[in-house]
Amino acid sequence: MAKTDHSDGSTRTRGRGRDDAVDHAGRRPDSLDDIRETYADQADTVARMRWLDRLLLGRYRRRLFGQATGRVLDVACGIGTNADYVPETTEYVGIDVSPEMLREAEARSPRLVRGETLFEMDAQALAFPDDSFETVISSLSTCTFPDPVAALDEMNRVCEPNGQVLLLEHGRSSVELLGRFQDWRADAHYEKHNCRWNQEPLELVSRSELSVTTSATGMLGVITGIRAEPG
Ligand SMILES: C[S@@+](CC[C@H](N)C(=O)[O-])C[C@H]1O[C@@H](n2cnc3c(N)ncnc32)[C@H](O)[C@@H]1O
Repeated sequence: MAKTDHSDGSTRTRGRGRDDAVDHAGRRPDSLDDIRETYADQADTVARMRWLDRLLLGRYRRRLFGQATGRVLDVACGIGTNADYVPETTEYVGIDVSPEMLREAEARSPRLVRGETLFEMDAQALAFPDDSFETVISSLSTCTFPDPVAALDEMNRVCEPNGQVLLLEHGRSSVELLGRFQDWRADAHYEKHNCRWNQEPLELVSRSELSVTTSATGMLGVITGIRAEPG
């Protein structure tokens, strides 16, 4: 992964106003019901394709989420894949808006239980008090949230002041030809998968209250790992 140090604050932008009624492409975001419907259809496939996720993303998940400590919140946890990558010494809690994805998570691991370690919840309105978690993690999620900056600000709110937020996001490739293909197919991809696959993860985080400390990219610039501090 190509690594960037943001400790000089060079890309930090705190609490900037936002305009999320439409996304950067002028698209109106889908509703939570649309998202639930999409993932009701996909939950079974996502569970069956876990081997492919492990092959492609396992090392990125391990490197980033292996840094988690203490009580950990996984926002938009899906089938709870990240629970396999956080250290066993942590106390894992996952939330997701899709009951079908949470059901697959429960079926997959005895550690993941609805009402105990898994909760059905909207990432944009987390039902946890401020400063509840030492580490907040999230992966492949901001591309789907109707209001991704609101969700990032919620992660900021529930993270302890000395805690950390770890994000593994995908976005527009740094390989121009591939990036242009993503741009060209962006609307069709969004229509089918509720996913903004040509987003710029660092730009998105810069619009939230989080402060990026380090970031690293991989897979032709498509994958970005971000460590941020609450602002
Ligand atoms: C591409 S999946 C990623 C799942 C998991 N984080 C992973 O890395 O495998 C996106 C997930 O975001 C969830 N999601 C989308 N919008 C959400 C919201 N507003 N609140 C909570 N979960 C949401 C979906 O239900 C889905 O499980």
